[in-house]
Amino acid sequence: MIQNIDYSKIDLTLPPPAKEPDRQYYFIAKCRQQVEAFAREWGRVPKACVVNYGCQMNARDSEKLAGVLESVGYELTEDENADFVIFNTCTVRDNANQRVYGRLGVLNGYKRRNPGMKIALCGCMMQENSVIEKIRESYRFVDLIFGTHNLYKFAELLDSVFGNRGQGMIIDIWKDTDRIVEDLPVERKYPYKSGINIMFGCNNFCSYCIVPYVRGRERSRSPKDILREIEGLVAEGVVEIMLLGQNVNSYGKGLEDPITFAQLLQEIEKIEGLKRIRFMTSHPKDLSDELIAVMRDSKKICRHLHLPLQSGSTRILQAMNRRYTKEQYLKLVEKIRREIPDIAITTDIIVGFPGETMEDVEETIDVIRKVKYDNAFTFIYSRRTGTPAAAMEQVPEEQVKAGFDRVLKAVQDTAREQAAKYQGCVMEALVEEINEHDPSLLTGRLSNNTLVHFPGDPSLIGSLVQVCLEECRGFYYLGHMV
Ligand code: 5AD
Ligand code: SF4
Repeated sequence: MIQNIDYSKIDLTLPPPAKEPDRQYYFIAKCRQQVEAFAREWGRVPKACVVNYGCQMNARDSEKLAGVLESVGYELTEDENADFVIFNTCTVRDNANQRVYGRLGVLNGYKRRNPGMKIALCGCMMQENSVIEKIRESYRFVDLIFGTHNLYKFAELLDSVFGNRGQGMIIDIWKDTDRIVEDLPVERKYPYKSGINIMFGCNNFCSYCIVPYVRGRERSRSPKDILREIEGLVAEGVVEIMLLGQNVNSYGKGLEDPITFAQLLQEIEKIEGLKRIRFMTSHPKDLSDELIAVMRDSKKICRHLHLPLQSGSTRILQAMNRRYTKEQYLKLVEKIRREIPDIAITTDIIVGFPGETMEDVEETIDVIRKVKYDNAFTFIYSRRTGTPAAAMEQVPEEQVKAGFDRVLKAVQDTAREQAAKYQGCVMEALVEEINEHDPSLLTGRLSNNTLVHFPGDPSLIGSLVQVCLEECRGFYYLGHMV
């Protein structure tokens, strides 16, 4: 965890240390002087905005970026019209890329009015050569670009931006790394819950997916570092954690002393004061009986499993390189439900993968009806340059649209049916926030990830309460505390 570092004690007359994270602490200290100079010059505290796109992993990375920006003296804001703006990008589907280009146009307008403004881009999209070329040519006002592998060097890169005297855009992209740097500053979004990376990268190479190319090979953090981080968070008041990895079920394989994900969970369970454990994402091919047993016997692991299906057609699954069949997936779900009857299962589904026919879509719908997902994210296949599926024959747009509508409807039907199951029950909820639409209500999350809204005092935020689930409103409940 972050020891309280006194940056004013770091001697900047010495050269930067080679060892991490000390090297980054040195650059944080150096950047602080620059941000103080801006504050004097402008007569106000400089503001920084971190904009996150994409998944939970990116969200966690954004907290690290925010941690550095806050440590160097920026005041964080959600307003993109700030003195330092960084977009942490996603490239899993093309619409994520398009959104970034659109927002960049808006930033250009802000920068014209605030010439001291700095603009940085990082994350998955920046690992693609074509993107870098486009930004270099058409978005010259960008000050800094870096990727997913050197995010830990953000303070150092920031220092280069501050020292930049008209040399133009700074671009620092690494192809891959096996390096994991611990103990960098993090600015958490919520005081009572936190994401924790347990591994980085992915080795699965599903044929549609760009993640293995932009996030690199799979590497696990040591259990010691993970446990230390969680203990630190619990000491700061965190009661719920979400363990993050592209495929948490293959956690621990490359470690010097390999351990399984299930064993890691058992260690985490022992941490006193920690109330809830979540994790994502699970690859069906790697979900072990050991994990099911540990979940079943655990008091802290939440009753929720995100188990991406992608397709219900064995033929398409094979073309996707998912390495399970429809039947194997259904058997796995049956086993999980047998052992943990109150578990909520959610999934990801792609419609329109190359070669998919309406019969394949029907297979997917068959799985949806059999599994009865509590929720599902349904995506239209997006062609990603460099992935094997990009070279396969694409499905006509109208067919994709028709398939997508059918899948969405099936998912909504089962989700509604599942949610209504608990009407009248009393369940434990973690109070997360004041309700967005009605400030007299609080919003809490059940162990199975369903939201419930109920009257209560905001001082309860961050605590676990018992709530009677009075009325199911589609995907959430209205209730009252008991
Ligand atoms: N097109 C559409 N959806 C995709 N996903 C990953 N790659 C693509 C793609 N090329 C989806 C998968 C994955 C989720 C995070 O994003 O369903 O599980
Ligand atoms: Fe992409 Fe497949 Fe890895 Fe998930 S498991 S990140 S879908 S390659």
